This record gives sequence, C-alpha cells and structure tokens, in this order.
Amino acid sequence: MHTSMRHVILAIESSCDETAAAVLINGKIQSNIIAMQTIHQKYGGVVPELASRAHQQHIVPVVSAALEKAKVQKTDLTAIAFTQGPGLLGSLLVGASFAKAMALALNLPLVAVHHMQAHILSHFIDEPYPAFPFLCLTVSGGHTQIVLVKSHLEMEILGQTQDDAVGEAFDKTAKLLGLPYPGGPLIDKYAATGNPRAFSFPIVEMPGLDFSFSGIKTAFLYFLRNQSSQGPDFIQKHLPDICASMQYTLIQILMKKLKQAALQTGIREIAIAGGVSANVGLRNTLHEEGQRLGWNVYIPKFEYCTDNAAMIAVAAYYKALAGQFASQEVTPMPRMEWK
Ligand code: KG4
Ligand code: ZN
Repeated sequence: MHTSMRHVILAIESSCDETAAAVLINGKIQSNIIAMQTIHQKYGGVVPELASRAHQQHIVPVVSAALEKAKVQKTDLTAIAFTQGPGLLGSLLVGASFAKAMALALNLPLVAVHHMQAHILSHFIDEPYPAFPFLCLTVSGGHTQIVLVKSHLEMEILGQTQDDAVGEAFDKTAKLLGLPYPGGPLIDKYAATGNPRAFSFPIVEMPGLDFSFSGIKTAFLYFLRNQSSQGPDFIQKHLPDICASMQYTLIQILMKKLKQAALQTGIREIAIAGGVSANVGLRNTLHEEGQRLGWNVYIPKFEYCTDNAAMIAVAAYYKALAGQFASQEVTPMPRMEWK
C-alpha cells in the first residue's frame, strides 16, 4: 500500500544555528534551502538567544523558498517533518512550533526526527546507498559516535565521546589560534599547506570504541603557552603547520577507533557523517585507508555534511513509510536520546 502512496514531505531543521527547509517527493530531494546565521561569528560561538531570534526571522522565507524551488504547493504536501532534538531548546522550538502550526492548518501528519540519525541517513539522499549493516562515524559539533546502522530506523551506538565532540576540538583549537567561529573549516583550509608531522600532541587512550577530546584541548593550550617563548608571532609563522599537525592528530584518533570497530564487527561498509565529515583531511584519509583495507567507503557530498534539511526529509520519509508519526503534543528534546 505504501509503495503506491505519494510522499511529498516538507522538512524543517533548526537545531542549532542554521535555518533550513527541504522538500522530498517519493524519496528524492527536490529542494534544499539553508539560511546561515552569521551573527554568531563576532561572539566566537553560537549565542542561543540570538539563534532563536534568527530562526524566527528566517523560517518563513526559507520554507517558501524550499516549496517554490521544488514547484510544490502547500496543498500538495503529505507530511511535515522537523528536528525534535538534540539541539538548543529555543532553536528547536521555532522549527517544532512552525511545523506543528503548518500541520494543523493543512491537516497533515507530523514526523519528528532525531538530528543525529538524520545525519546518518544523509547517505540515502543520493545513490550509491550503503548496504546494511554499515558502520557510520558520526562527527559533528556536539557528537562523536561510531554507530552500527542495521536498517534505516535501527541504529546502535558502539562507542562515543566521553567529553568533548571532535568538532568542538576543531573549534576550540581555532579559537586559541585567534581564528573566528566556526573554526573547523579554517583549520582544514590552513592544514592543506602545512606539515602534519611538524608538531606532535599527546593522545589519551580510551577503552573500547569510546573517544575523549578534552585532554588534547588542554595539551594544545599548554603547547601554545610554551611556544610563545619563541616570540609573539609564533602562531603567525607556523599557522599551516600547527593546523596540519592538530588535524592529523584528531584524524588519527578517529581512524584508530573506526578501524577497531570494522575489525570487531567484520563490517566493511564504512560511512562518515556530520559537520566534521566535510574535513578534507578526514575525507582523504578515509578514502586511502578504505582502499588499503578493502572497505566500501561512503562520504557525503559537502552540502549534506553540515546541518541541512534534506537529511531531515530523508529520515522523515523512512519514518513515514514505517508509519512513525508524531502527535500535536510532541515537544522538542534538547538532549534527545537515541531510539
Ligand atoms: O553537523 P554540524 O553542522 O552541526 C552539529 O550538529 O553540531 O557540525 C558542525 C561542526 C563544527 O564544529 C564545525 O567546525 C565542524 O562541524 N566542521 C568542520 C569542517 N566543516 C565543519 N570541522 C573540520 N573541518 C571542516 N571542513
Ligand atoms: Zn548536525
């Protein structure tokens, strides 16, 4: 029955500092609109109150643009999807309230999506799709996880960070170097021309498939303090080498656990997802290591690495196929657990 049904889904993402909307028809993305919030740059991080306000300003034009680009009328829609969590409460509330109001007005079902599961399902936006079961290294500003993906809707966390996320490690490193927020992409840029072996940073060994990134942040702070004895322009002189060395260390930590997970499970279908999967160093390393180890590697297109609504739409599509709809009483969950 479901196969003959037409699914026209409007999806809204507002978990952090990107207001995004996308339209999907029968599993295929028709539009994917993102309004970035530049206001946070001067504060060196996302300011929650300003993020909510910017979402409030952007959401109507972003949704209109997504419908227009997809050539879809509101009356064509069959469901409204939104990010339920995890994320910032005030940011999530804007997307959730908007989705609920729209569903109510159009008498449509709601689909509530888990943001991290959606990052993983971004691999079902364009073919080739990974085969189940696959492993996904999910790396963002708030999460660092190795996930065993058994089906579109069944996922199990095999390991995760016990403190900071790897995206945070990138951003905090950048901040100490005096680079603006978000620093991850800038570290990536400077690393491209630097020597990854110029400096070395200590790695904290974690048990099993878990990660820790708080130690390396502190080590980096002390490293910069010690080096400042070489003169105040140490950072300026060595920026590409510092960035390349730090990035190399972070990638080594991620790859070590990913290889361990592949060995333990015997799985060779390996994917990465989340904002940090946009990192060129990580993408290249995964590609090379994958070839060497006989893995089938899945790396999202750049536009689907960082926060977007296309991934929310795809996740909602699989939930709708499974009949997993939310009620009008649904509320945002800033610390949403894994289902
Ligand atoms: O998935 P995402 O857009 O938002 C969250 O769900 O957190 O991830 C944002 C994170 C930030 O920490 C940002 O610095 C990092 O992804 N990031 C990168 C790159 N692009 C984004 N980190 C390293 N290299 C990049 N090219
Ligand atoms: Zn994200």
